[in-house]
Amino acid sequence: MAEPDKQEFPSIMKKQVSRRDVLKAAGIGGVGILLGAAGVGGAFALADVLPDIQKKEKTDAIIPFYGKHQAGITTRPQNHIYFASFDVTAENRKDLIRLFQDWTEAAAAMTEGRPVGDESDNKFLPPHDTGEVLRLSPANLTLTFGVGPTLFTKNGKDRFGLRKKQPAELKELPKFPLDSLEERWTGGDLCVQACADDFQVAFHAVRNLARIARGKAVIRWAQAGFQRTKQAGSKNETPRNLFGFKDGTVNPDVNDPAELNKYLWVQPGDGADWLVDGTFLVVRRIQMFIEVWDRTSLKEQENTIGRYRDSGAYLGQKHEFDPPDFEKKDANGEYYIPITAHVRVARGDGKEKILRRSYSYTDGIDPKTGTFDAGLLFICFQRSISEQFIPIQTRLAQTDHLNEYIVHRGSAVFACFPGAKKGGYIGESLFS
Ligand code: HEM
Repeated sequence: MAEPDKQEFPSIMKKQVSRRDVLKAAGIGGVGILLGAAGVGGAFALADVLPDIQKKEKTDAIIPFYGKHQAGITTRPQNHIYFASFDVTAENRKDLIRLFQDWTEAAAAMTEGRPVGDESDNKFLPPHDTGEVLRLSPANLTLTFGVGPTLFTKNGKDRFGLRKKQPAELKELPKFPLDSLEERWTGGDLCVQACADDFQVAFHAVRNLARIARGKAVIRWAQAGFQRTKQAGSKNETPRNLFGFKDGTVNPDVNDPAELNKYLWVQPGDGADWLVDGTFLVVRRIQMFIEVWDRTSLKEQENTIGRYRDSGAYLGQKHEFDPPDFEKKDANGEYYIPITAHVRVARGDGKEKILRRSYSYTDGIDPKTGTFDAGLLFICFQRSISEQFIPIQTRLAQTDHLNEYIVHRGSAVFACFPGAKKGGYIGESLFS
């Protein structure tokens, strides 16, 4: 997997120019500085160097599209997300398959930083690619595709002859207490999760996939999200959510295949052979009442989550990754981690583990209240929705102290295909 933070400039170093000089030339200091560093009549010209930088950025920032599993699941979260849910308008199976084939070709190109379709210079036709990322780095773009329950059956109708292949797990979630879901953030026949270290790259990808889908699928809802960028925090610390707390500390180990086979990837015998090596995605658009939170004492905030805000350690512990002690009591005989703290309720007896890969969002101001419409685009992946997400969310909806500060506004579930092989297409196993 590409390592986005690693910056190497080997071809330039050979020419004895410092990395600082090159960075200046690439944007900060402008052309003159590099020419100055090379000296008049120096060993190379600016034109020799810039293509090296561009080439290097391109190869460093590519996450392979093809593989056993789709990218964008165990991939270290990039800075930005653009998540889109689609309704299929195609009326037959052939057109649906064609959509996935076209999407595969475009996705493979875009994740390598190539434009979609041929670069035609016919001035009498719209260009194939919309153009806003021409010659930019692919910025670790990943595109992850999934199918929702309504692709299989809708209003009792077997839409594409796929009913028999619908996994038992893939159905609308139960209504949880306190849910306040809105139709405009809910459901969908297909999903595309685009993640990249550059927002324009992520948006470009979904925009072009939507263009390709014309006549076959339309966007039902979409949500952009972000976390701190690597420019602002290069140390690879756990990112913080809009409540100021580190979010994403406890997750399955993405480098442990046994753990991933147990908790993440669908296995043979699970009931949907076409989905083996794929996974289930749950997305919840959760509004966070940040103005209310900001008026709350630090102690109340920490008791709500069950961790210290600054270090991210569990209450009663020192370091972020120290294990919790749920029995530990303070001098007053109170549990350090209150019974209703988010982490205690979410963990339960520790049997269910989900891979959380969420992003913050802000969407302007809620016109009804004048407060921010901001929160968490909560995304998690798991092998079984009924045995992992549902029990956790059932507990949270009942007793999580955090419920005073959040409300779930959107929800959808998708089955994310296994990865595509070169020469094949995403979703092929569903149709074969
Ligand atoms: C806006 C809503 C939410 C916020 C602000 C939030 C915040 C947090 C924070 C700060 C942590 C502690 C750090 C960490 O381990 O990542 C945490 C842990 C966790 N959260 Fe959430 N969370 C939210 C929603 C959810 C939802 C909907 C679920 C699942 C249904 C969930 C499941 C978990 C789990 C499983 C843990 C780890 C518990 C442990 O073993 O310590 N969270 N969350």
